[in-house]
Amino acid sequence: MAEADIAEQLILAAFDPGLGEGWASGQVAPTLAMPGTWATCAEAADPLSAVPVKSAPVGFTIARQISDEAELLLIGVRPDRRRSGLGGVLLDRMLADAAAAGALQVFLEVRESNAAAIALYSSRGFEVVGRRPGYYRAADGARQDALTMRRSN
Ligand SMILES: CC(C)(COP(=O)(O)OP(=O)(O)OC[C@H]1O[C@@H](n2cnc3c(N)ncnc32)[C@H](O)[C@@H]1OP(=O)(O)O)[C@@H](O)C(=O)NCCC(=O)NCCS
Repeated sequence: MAEADIAEQLILAAFDPGLGEGWASGQVAPTLAMPGTWATCAEAADPLSAVPVKSAPVGFTIARQISDEAELLLIGVRPDRRRSGLGGVLLDRMLADAAAAGALQVFLEVRESNAAAIALYSSRGFEVVGRRPGYYRAADGARQDALTMRRSN
């Protein structure tokens, strides 16, 4: 399966459509076609599969880099695989890839009430450096601020 298809599948599984964080269907492939943009997908053995050792996508990141600045655009882990270190492994991999490509700083936006993601980012040295009022729009029309976080590589 192509990375864009895996990411699309995981966006549906990992993001609450009501919160306005995940991407719309069809958004991943054109993003990955842009220069400096890449996805990393993780697979693991699927315990529900009848076929032994069949693996299934469990997590992903999408990132982009321009010159010496990288940006984490999206990270998601399938709900039944959370809190087992996978998000950290994926983020560490993205940071290592960005550093290898010359990134000196990494930025991201996160919904201010997304405690799990903020805790993950903080555990990797990201700090809040800004706020975008009303950046996220939920399905019910409610707006939530985004925090901009930065990490020096
Ligand atoms: C955010 C997300 C990717 C974390 O993935 P994960 O695989 O559960 O993360 P990890 O198990 O690697 O956790 C790493 C650290 O992050 C923090 N963390 C992760 N989930 C947390 C939670 N629910 N509450 C508090 N801290 C949390 C902890 O510090 C954790 O370390 P610990 O388990 O040793 O305490 C996952 O919750 C997710 O997919 N959420 C939905 C999509 C999303 O909101 N993405 C971010 C915006 S793009």
